[in-house]
Amino acid sequence: MTTEYVVLNEEAPDPEVIRRAGRIIKDGGLVAFPTETVYGLGGDALNPASSKKIYAAKGRPSDNPLIVHVCRFEDIEPIVRSIPPQAAALAEAFWPGPLTMIFKKNDRVPAETTGGLDTVAIRFPSNKIAQALIDASGGYIAAPSANRSGRPSPTLARYCMEDLDGRVEMIIDGGQVGIGLESTIIDLTEGEPVILRPGYITREKLAKVLGNVGVDQSIIKPDSGIKPKAPGMKYRHYAPKGELVILEGSPDKVVAAINRAAAKDREKGIRSGVICTDETRNLYEADCVKSAGSRGDEESIARELFRILREFDDEEVGHIYSESFREGGLGQAIMNRLMKAAGHKVIDLGAD
Ligand code: TXA
Ligand code: MG
Repeated sequence: MTTEYVVLNEEAPDPEVIRRAGRIIKDGGLVAFPTETVYGLGGDALNPASSKKIYAAKGRPSDNPLIVHVCRFEDIEPIVRSIPPQAAALAEAFWPGPLTMIFKKNDRVPAETTGGLDTVAIRFPSNKIAQALIDASGGYIAAPSANRSGRPSPTLARYCMEDLDGRVEMIIDGGQVGIGLESTIIDLTEGEPVILRPGYITREKLAKVLGNVGVDQSIIKPDSGIKPKAPGMKYRHYAPKGELVILEGSPDKVVAAINRAAAKDREKGIRSGVICTDETRNLYEADCVKSAGSRGDEESIARELFRILREFDDEEVGHIYSESFREGGLGQAIMNRLMKAAGHKVIDLGAD
């Protein structure tokens, strides 16, 4: 199939293009589109054939459920068994925005969309192109991140093209996304709400609305073998082609250790890369040094991380060394993605 590539302005998306894209989805086709978190690969959430196509286009295991995107809070009710009281409060505080809530689903949502689960993940994105497209598509778009399975989520339309050209009917380019990490997922189906995937909406922010919020044990102890409740969290994700390792410890120790490792790589003829920050960038002597932004600006680090991981693939580096980013409110979400990309390889150098 030929993939049509169109550029839209988020402030004034061309209604004709939106209508055409909506028609593609209503007819069972696929459209990649921007959201505020990452680009999504959209199909009709209520059409089992569309969900099957999404899995095929991504090369994704079909037991990994999709998030259903809506453009009105009222649109939840027709597809769920019940709306727990916390949902309205969370929607009031964080929707439209980067929060996904899990509900018990009803029969209108096909098992293909939820990977066979009896629950459904729902999100109301704030991106205006996404909202217009959902509305034009009949109100329910199933959309995983628009990358081939295992690759970093796309933060630019160019990366959707890299991964999905010839596999989807249309790619809508709405520019670079604002957040850069996928939505926070919270499960509301079992008593105490539990975070299944950390994201831009932090536990602290959620706790202000809900009081108590749990965190899935598999996020806190990623090496424990505990099975994550969000099926997708069990897969190795975002892995760059080069071998990635995270170094933790005092900044001096991290810089020295990375420079030593890069020197050894050079002796062996291996190209080396570094993921660092503006504060340390000039201290590294590796082949390819990339800063994700300033340590004081963790939003920048969240926004640039996936782009940097993809760029290292083009640079053909064999070893990538990353600083650690545990501090700050977004630390848990950033480190969750970085640890997956590294296959949990962390070297602890100690504090000083
Ligand atoms: O920000 C986002 O959430 C992006 C944009 C496009 O909206 N979407 C996204 O989708 O990240 P995806 O498919 O890449 O990740 C969805 C995650 C997976 O880990 C999946 O297992 C989990 O959500 N999930 C979906 N439905 C679920 C359910 N009913 N119960 C538990 N986990 C669920
Ligand atoms: Mg994904």
